[in-house]
Amino acid sequence: MKTTDVFKLANGVSIPSIGFGTWQIPSGDMAYNSVREALKAGYRHIDTAQAYGNEASVGQAIRDSGIDRSEIFVTSKLPAEIKSYDKAVRRAAFTMKQIGLDYIDLYLIHAPWPWTEIGADYTKENIEVWKAMEEFYESGKTRSIGISNFNVNDINAILENSRIRPMVNQIKLHIGHPQAEITEHCRKNNILVEGYSPLATGKILNNSNIAAIAKKYGKSVAQLSIRYVLEKGALPLPKSTHPEYIRQNIDVDFKITADDISNLDTL
Ligand code: A2P
Repeated sequence: MKTTDVFKLANGVSIPSIGFGTWQIPSGDMAYNSVREALKAGYRHIDTAQAYGNEASVGQAIRDSGIDRSEIFVTSKLPAEIKSYDKAVRRAAFTMKQIGLDYIDLYLIHAPWPWTEIGADYTKENIEVWKAMEEFYESGKTRSIGISNFNVNDINAILENSRIRPMVNQIKLHIGHPQAEITEHCRKNNILVEGYSPLATGKILNNSNIAAIAKKYGKSVAQLSIRYVLEKGALPLPKSTHPEYIRQNIDVDFKITADDISNLDTL
């Protein structure tokens, strides 16, 4: 697979196979310049969220890039703590206002529970919020909809209670955290898995076992880690604020052997 390749979502929409993650990039110059840099480097897929507080800077960078809007895939997310239909409708409208684009390409429920109550059961509320997501999709303001941080039970509750099925589940996915059960469940249900924190937010960059394997391919640990997510059939969302890293992280057009994938799976 080449980095210029796309995945196809269940509704036929194409999504560029690597996205630029913007979690923890502060709004203002930092987010603006990073997104401009990513677009210059060749990324055509930018991932933000209302909770990141940088939707406005991300939108501005996209508008100023001079790249045709239709060539860029833009994702944002409904904040995790929004668990009613009415609030979801209002917050989706707020995303559109902040980001300043006529439409976005993907809108996700950020998590099945508020971040202050990880693991709490919000099944009933998520089903209600999903109705707002379906209507947002039908309004044409977003070209696809999905979920994030949903486990198998959370996914099933939506599948059993939806008119429009989620097209994406964005989860934390990196070497040492392969999320096999959720990934397999999504594959069976034609839900594309996106992997955030493919570098474990930087924690695996100094791992000597990973470094030894990366060296064989003449690649950095970051590149091997991003490629690993692709080899798992998932879409990586690496984040960086440094131009040289931004460029490096999209230069992952190589194959990891099945043996090395097995080795990496054991780490
Ligand atoms: P920075 O943002 O300072 O450029 P993840 O994508 O898993 O969330 O990891 C992001 C972290 O990894 C950030 O701290 C980022 O640094 C760092 N990082 C991103 N790409 C590289 C790279 N190619 N080499 C080294 N560190 C990187």
